[in-house]
Amino acid sequence: MARPLRLGVLTGGGDCPGLNALIRGLVRRGVLEFGHSFVGIENGYMGLVEPELVRPLGVEDTRGILPKGGTILGTSNKANPFSYPVREGTGWGTRDLSDQVLRRCEELRLDGLVAIGGDGTLSIAHQLAEKGLKVVGCPKTIDNDLSGTDQTFGFDTARLIVTEALDRLHSTAEAHDRVMVVEIMGRHAGFLTLESGIAGGADLILIPEIPYRVESMLETLKRRATRRRSFSIIAISEGAYPEGGALSVLAEAADIPGRGVVRLGGSGKVCADLLASHIEAEIRVTVLGHLQRGGSPSAADRVLATRYGCKVLDLVRDGQWGHMVALRNNDVIPVPLSESRKERRVDVQGDLVRFARSMGIGFGD
Ligand code: F6P
Repeated sequence: MARPLRLGVLTGGGDCPGLNALIRGLVRRGVLEFGHSFVGIENGYMGLVEPELVRPLGVEDTRGILPKGGTILGTSNKANPFSYPVREGTGWGTRDLSDQVLRRCEELRLDGLVAIGGDGTLSIAHQLAEKGLKVVGCPKTIDNDLSGTDQTFGFDTARLIVTEALDRLHSTAEAHDRVMVVEIMGRHAGFLTLESGIAGGADLILIPEIPYRVESMLETLKRRATRRRSFSIIAISEGAYPEGGALSVLAEAADIPGRGVVRLGGSGKVCADLLASHIEAEIRVTVLGHLQRGGSPSAADRVLATRYGCKVLDLVRDGQWGHMVALRNNDVIPVPLSESRKERRVDVQGDLVRFARSMGIGFGD
């Protein structure tokens, strides 16, 4: 039998439902079947840079966490060790602290690291693997925009939350005969908006992959109008933008120390403002925001996260460092961490978009 190992675990990037289910699966199988021990690293990679952010993680610590949202380890999306935010006078600068992270893993006597996160966390894991760290990744995000895997956990729960929101907004839209614009997360990918838009009966679905035009939206809204009713639901991605227009950005990367990505938001208002002078119906904008990532994971996300957590231990056993677990054709398999760096976007010629169009849903193009 293989020697029991000491493994570090961290969760990085935005939280999403299922992180705790994954940690539970990993620790329980790791301890019970392999005799491994685990070190919980708090606040993502920050826990490998700053002192006193590590603690033992045993089976006892994972009791009762399966239905809980968030992550018992905490997370951070500003702690990239390759460009770590450091105070410089009154402002912020960044430094490459990746060597310090490798030394910290040695000090902690880690035989390997399990990094759970989205594209940012996994591409950092890939860079650390290239520097010689033994690391295995697990893909998570409500955006479902990682190319290496057919689905990330967190997506199913977010899709349920958005679908329920669209159902609820239907009644108000109908009662007041309003146009409801619903802004949905997903960064530069439209998966969450497309799938919940279809599940929630949206009349227009606006996604980053298909820039929209006001005239096209008006045609769809006009087609829906009857003598007595003209309410409509517009599901819009935070990353959607009008043809020839710009992304709606709340904060530029430069304003977010160590982050390197923009913070999106405001696309719903832009869309509503563009429509306002063309239609009589009242328009209201709902921004679902972080509600989409909160709360208890769906059964499907709990199962997928548990499969990921348990599968990681096969990769560790087989020495498949530098890989991440991924869902492909309903099997959980290892794929190289480099896969996580490729972006995935909605296939605008694919079945889902085609079928939605054929049912009369507008895409604003
Ligand atoms: O990647 C997940 C996500 O929720 C995106 O959909 C969204 O754009 C972003 O994170 C929001 O990040 P933050 O929680 O830092 O505002």
